[in-house]
Amino acid sequence: MTLEAIQADITTLSVDAIVNAANEALAGGGGVDGAIHRAAGPELMRACSRYSGCPTGTAVITPGFRLKARFVIHTVGPIWRGGNKGEADLLASCYKSSLVLAQQNGIRSIAFPSISTGVYGYPVREASAIAVRTVRTFDASAFTKIIFCCFDRPTLDLYLDLLKED
Ligand code: AR6
Repeated sequence: MTLEAIQADITTLSVDAIVNAANEALAGGGGVDGAIHRAAGPELMRACSRYSGCPTGTAVITPGFRLKARFVIHTVGPIWRGGNKGEADLLASCYKSSLVLAQQNGIRSIAFPSISTGVYGYPVREASAIAVRTVRTFDASAFTKIIFCCFDRPTLDLYLDLLKED
């Protein structure tokens, strides 16, 4: 299994699944969520509306429709409220739930955005450490490739540093 960090628009990636940083209502929005819905087409919203939402820290799966990725895994990160409201566990749970759901669906390659670090305000240094630690401690033997897809250079640099450490 390869674990890597790249700088890219996640909607362009050829992987089995991309992960969306959604909201509890699965109602679409800005950021990576908006980009994924635009690229996947309106069928994605219809597929999301079949779920009655998605509690923070959990994940649901839909087809990828017009995306290169066959699936989208929608997970909902915590809104940053200072760090003492269970944010770290909820963020770790996003990565874990997404990987479990991916495994259950035979997904072998998957790309994650930097969940919660945009509109939801999670400090990116802490969030990237949780992302890397959670994925590394997961039994990921079913996967060939797990990508951390960073939108900006500072985020990529944080991930590259974390991935250098053993
Ligand atoms: N590819 C990869 N990463 C991206 C892309 C992209 N095309 N676009 C933005 N990012 P955010 P959140 C990065 O705000 O903080 C939405 O409205 C972005 O630079 O998308 O979890 C939802 O509907 C940042 O590093 O997600 C929710 O209401 C990261 O993706 C809410 O925002 C996450 O930023 C979720 O907020």
